[in-house]
Amino acid sequence: MEKVSGKLSDIGIVPVITGITDLEECENLAGALVAGGIPVMEITFRMERAESYIRYLRECHPEILVGAGTVLTVEQARTAIDAGAQFLVSPGLNKAVVRCAGEAGVEMLPGIATPSELEQAMEMGLRCVKFFPAEQAGGVGAIKAMSGPYRDVRFVPTGGINLGNLADYFACESVAACGGTYMLGKHLQRHEWEEISALCRRSVQTMLGLRLSHIGICPTSREDAGELARRAAVLLGMDVKKDGGDALLVGEGIKVMRHGGRGHIAYSTPCLERAVRYLNAVGCRFLEASERCDDRGKLVEIAFEQDIAGFEVRLVQK
Ligand code: 3PG
Repeated sequence: MEKVSGKLSDIGIVPVITGITDLEECENLAGALVAGGIPVMEITFRMERAESYIRYLRECHPEILVGAGTVLTVEQARTAIDAGAQFLVSPGLNKAVVRCAGEAGVEMLPGIATPSELEQAMEMGLRCVKFFPAEQAGGVGAIKAMSGPYRDVRFVPTGGINLGNLADYFACESVAACGGTYMLGKHLQRHEWEEISALCRRSVQTMLGLRLSHIGICPTSREDAGELARRAAVLLGMDVKKDGGDALLVGEGIKVMRHGGRGHIAYSTPCLERAVRYLNAVGCRFLEASERCDDRGKLVEIAFEQDIAGFEVRLVQK
């Protein structure tokens, strides 16, 4: 069975929910997060009746991954698990709480901020932890430093994460997902659901980091390719260069493919594997035959099943 931390890492962003006061707000917030492309909610036990929101979400929103946050005691852990929480999160490492979650078969992400705390979590068999409070405890630099000796650990930094530093965290391979309240801000209190969706979309865009890479043109023959590249270069006042493969580059943005194939629009991303996992998780489909890997087996190119006006849409590793 796929681990919950794997699913969290596919979605990549964990909204930490602290300010809901009734089920209607819970419902509206769930809708806003899903519309913004983040079907995850960490319902914190800082809120009264947290378990009622967990139960409601599990019953009415099977598309959302629902966890319990700020789980400080064994009693809270039991209440959260009874209500259907799919994962538990705590700010610190409380062994009794971790054991309780383990016995119930529910994945737990306890908070750690130092190597010693991390080792205690590892001793309990955990390989994915919350790094809290992320910014105050050293931010991306601290995670990178800890990833040296603890190679197979994945972190979910939380605390002080925002749209300004999100990309830096995602640039770190050992970051499984980022958590925070920044996408809610004052909008939850004010019931500004569209603003929350917009912040979620911007978060996803920041995580994916897609940039237009090039337009690929595929003439019918190699001779046509040379002629077409020259004409485009004259038109745009640019130079023609060979790229590493079998294509001619006109400036930066046009690739004339000499071996035929399909016309395409290519977007680059700093982490193609993460982008594909997220897009798969939200229902996008890719053409298996389009997958291209480098010598080390790392995915470097893939195309969506769906085209845009006859153009194949490709994602490439930056
Ligand atoms: C948490 O509860 O995990 C953190 O307090 C969230 O931190 P943030 O409000 O800085 O995102």
